[in-house]
Amino acid sequence: MYRTNTCGELRLGNAGMEVTLSGWVQASRDLGGMTFIDLRDRYGITQLVFNMEEDADLCMRARKLGREFVIQVTGSVRERTSKNPNRPTGDVEIVVSNLQTLNASNVPPFTIENETDGGEELRMKYRYLDIRRNPVQEKIIFRSKVALETRKYLSASNFIEVETPCLIKSTPEGARDFIVPSRINAGQFYALPQSPQTFKQLLMVAGMDRYFQIVKCFRDEDLRADRQPEFTQIDCEMAFVTREDILQTFEGLTQHLFKSILHLDLGTFPRMSYDDAMQRYGSDKPDIRFGMEFVELNDLAKDKGFAVFDDAELVVGICVPDQAEAYSNKQLNDLVEWVKRPQIGAKGMVNVKFLADGSIKSSVGKFYTDEQLKEWGHKAGAGANDMLLILSGETDKVRKQLNELRLEMGNRLGLRDPKVYKPLWVVDFALLEWDEEAQRFHAMHHPFTSPKATDIERMFSGDHETMKSLRADAYDLVINGVEIGGGSIRIHDRKLQEKNFKLLGFTPEEAENQFGFLLGAFEYGAPPHGGIALGFDRLCAMMKGETSIRDFIAFPKNNMGKDVMIDAPSPIDPEQLKELSLKLDVRP
Ligand code: AMO
Repeated sequence: MYRTNTCGELRLGNAGMEVTLSGWVQASRDLGGMTFIDLRDRYGITQLVFNMEEDADLCMRARKLGREFVIQVTGSVRERTSKNPNRPTGDVEIVVSNLQTLNASNVPPFTIENETDGGEELRMKYRYLDIRRNPVQEKIIFRSKVALETRKYLSASNFIEVETPCLIKSTPEGARDFIVPSRINAGQFYALPQSPQTFKQLLMVAGMDRYFQIVKCFRDEDLRADRQPEFTQIDCEMAFVTREDILQTFEGLTQHLFKSILHLDLGTFPRMSYDDAMQRYGSDKPDIRFGMEFVELNDLAKDKGFAVFDDAELVVGICVPDQAEAYSNKQLNDLVEWVKRPQIGAKGMVNVKFLADGSIKSSVGKFYTDEQLKEWGHKAGAGANDMLLILSGETDKVRKQLNELRLEMGNRLGLRDPKVYKPLWVVDFALLEWDEEAQRFHAMHHPFTSPKATDIERMFSGDHETMKSLRADAYDLVINGVEIGGGSIRIHDRKLQEKNFKLLGFTPEEAENQFGFLLGAFEYGAPPHGGIALGFDRLCAMMKGETSIRDFIAFPKNNMGKDVMIDAPSPIDPEQLKELSLKLDVRP
């Protein structure tokens, strides 16, 4: 038997017991006649004691143990004289009578402690050592809990977990596919699924009624803190449902996860239309933990002789509370430079300060009277000591820029507390998005998304401009400004699906070639259906108050999409290439 107890288990009540523990040497200390070792496993750390006077040989062997050696010890549990209140096992220690080294270890390349000295790349290369560290281990364990509670909730709601294939034909979700060559079908390729979208719809045609899967998805896109090339979704689909049924079910799932794991009540989730979100926050994923909603000032600021505003399509600002006195000219100038950076792209920024004594100070003071500026303040709900920050330009661009500025001010003023959770449903997205450069429509969610029932007729009869105004039965779940999930009611009628493909620029042959299987299935009694997918890694990170999903994935990729531990991707053998009938233009 390797152990009778774990290293996180023993308490004062166990004093006097003879136990056997196994684990890793976290640290050791020699204090003259005594040697202390901290023994660690997944469950905690227990102190071991070796006494030179009682057993010199054993003590000498203990002194030779290095960090991360794997050992097994037997001994008796004893109350500690100097207790460690920071450790659950801190009241006891094990007086060791038997020690066995199960495996030696090289000196680890970084310290295996909560705060490590290892850099990102090194920790990735030795990920199995990084996972020994508490903060990483906790995240992986947390993820397992979220998966378990998800399964509990969905199973109790009659969902069936079904696995769908990984070697498939391309499913368009807006990113590039990862491609797998087929050896026995020379010159042909599988794609790894960007999501199980078409399969889950086919499962509805197959009568499964309620499907879910905690599933790997693959997208060849640029990496960010909240994006990995392979990530996991809680993917769901339901038959015979309206949008309302889906929102209720997944609001319920999200509430259940927060309640059962974090003991938090999220309450009812507010809803906001896409148009409102864009107008009030300049983003389809607004962070509603704080105010500073957009205030449009066209009617008050234009045609008063200030050319920048006169020429702008939109003049729009935010009201920053309680900062008029505190914000210095230098800070304001820094902020102007900040919005002018290429990443934001604003040409400048106007400020109006409503000072505590009732006076007004503004960077456009010479173009507007105090009375006029007061009206702006009135419209923005600005009180004493508040400050307006205003941008102007083309509507879409300026909204995006002001969204960035609003979030930045939220950060600077500490209004984005990661332990406060504000969920939101964003609904009524546009069906199609016009790409001016490519002169074509893209599906705003994906091509299988249904227009709203009230828009179907217009979709068949309307002109080009009408298509831009079609609304989809699509929705996103946003928490704290992060897109956690997205879904829609689907098209289940062949003609409507064909029409949508046509609008998206597919010829009938292309549509048949790529999606004939789905169009065909729609002719065999496809039920009305819809669904959603939540980004599982993102949800876990969000629940833990973190922005990076990387540590919630046991073996993630780095910024270049590489796994530096196993060295993937890597070149393959010329023989293998030949077998796959592939010739390379580039030598890596
Ligand atoms: P969508 O493309 O919106 O919808 O994806 C759903 C959710 O998956 C998460 N996500 C990602 N997480 C980490 N890394 C990535 N690269 C990544 N890409 C997406 C996001 C996102 O909200 N088939 C549809 C769902 C449906 O219509 O039912 C789909 O995949 O949190």
